[in-house]
Amino acid sequence: MSDVMEKLVSLCKRKGFIFQSSEIYGGLNGCWDYGPLGVELLRNIKESWWRSMTYREDVEGIDASILMHAKVWEASGHVEGFNDPMVEDSKTNERFRLDHLLEEAGVECTDLTFDDMAAKVAELGLKSPKGNELTAPRQFNMMFRTHVGPVEDSASVVYLRPETAQGIFVNYLNVQQAMRQKLPFGIAQIGKAFRNEITTKNFLFRTREFEQMEMQYFVKPGEEEKWFDYWKQERRKWFTEALGIPASRLRWHEHGSGELAHYARQAFDIHFEFPFGWDEVEGIHNRGQFDLGQHEEFSGKQLKYFDEAAKEKFVPAVVETSIGASRSTMMVLSNAYDEEEVKGETRTVMRFHPKIAPLKVAILPLVKRDGMPDIARKIEADLRDHLRVFYDEGGAIGRRYRRMDEVGTPFCVTVDSDTLEDDTVTVRERDSMEQNRVKITDLLGELTNRMANWKHPAA
Ligand code: GAP
Repeated sequence: MSDVMEKLVSLCKRKGFIFQSSEIYGGLNGCWDYGPLGVELLRNIKESWWRSMTYREDVEGIDASILMHAKVWEASGHVEGFNDPMVEDSKTNERFRLDHLLEEAGVECTDLTFDDMAAKVAELGLKSPKGNELTAPRQFNMMFRTHVGPVEDSASVVYLRPETAQGIFVNYLNVQQAMRQKLPFGIAQIGKAFRNEITTKNFLFRTREFEQMEMQYFVKPGEEEKWFDYWKQERRKWFTEALGIPASRLRWHEHGSGELAHYARQAFDIHFEFPFGWDEVEGIHNRGQFDLGQHEEFSGKQLKYFDEAAKEKFVPAVVETSIGASRSTMMVLSNAYDEEEVKGETRTVMRFHPKIAPLKVAILPLVKRDGMPDIARKIEADLRDHLRVFYDEGGAIGRRYRRMDEVGTPFCVTVDSDTLEDDTVTVRERDSMEQNRVKITDLLGELTNRMANWKHPAA
């Protein structure tokens, strides 16, 4: 693990962002729990996505159930094709993703099929990381299977959904008719997804349980390209404007033929520069008529849209935007982490965009006397309805500032002896550490204004 990753994982635990799942039992691989500050950060990211995607005329929201009819996954192609190539160490029985092993050996896999990769193993005489022989490559299906009801037979099989998208496809006509939507329109959803990943790695990056934020945009066949370009631009803007990710840490990655998911005709990923290298955070996919066409065939139900103006019926094509909420949190944490030297000491500061920071403002009486705590408590109570505030009167003011820097609180408001004279407080800004005096009556407006106009120092 890189140095920054180690520090980040440690800070996340120490400060209540992320804990290992079932830690007291030794943990469960690929599962993480969000602590008090982590859940606040995650909720803020989800809320920001939800607002940007659904507070518009042409996109509706839904929340579909995780368990769905098993036929959904046959129709969607996941039972047959949601596989990763896997090899096993023949001595230790450890399992590895073949494309990851090949990439570590310097083989670019983006355009390779499963058979190409299998051939490469033989050609290179590839061994396991422990130097042992590998078993023959095989496809591993990543869906978790379980049963509904008390009888465990083939008729009761269900899957934990590996993507939220299918809950949208099977509801597309319900939503269209209930909301009287006309093409083009979209349906957005946030929810848990599960994948039995062969290997999990890099903290929240690749886990077995995670959350997705997906939107399917239904368009007239032939108009996919136009909407694909539109959503590519919209989604990238959200990274920079809503999350404050500097453009220099983002880039596009177009899927090669070997990389395309079974449903996709074209795909572009937004990659972020993580401490462990560039990798995917979001995928924009042109799914064509694949999903609705499949569901029409497997369910035997008409899923055609009736275009009143043209008086024609057709199965819409779909442009999808698909991003992990958990992986976005990982990106936001990595992007925020910073260290700098201040007066001979290292200051660790999480430079979150104020709009998604878990705590917005800390209220700090300079000392615990002269009525300062009472004034501070009154300010806290007045702000609490509007902002997530935190009150702290314990310890030297410098130490309290550092604690807030470490959890990324953008503003500290200090009540001091001048407050007693002129009803002003000091507002200390996290990134620059600059301090100004602000009248208590202007405080909310001042903080709201600064939050709206914030820019990441690296942007
Ligand atoms: N519906 C399309 C779909 O699911 P995907 O590229 O497989 O596409 C979309 O996944 C996003 O979901 C990824 O870009 C990533 O952010 C997130 N994601 C996928 N697998 C993940 C995992 N194992 N752990 C965390 N996030 C994951």
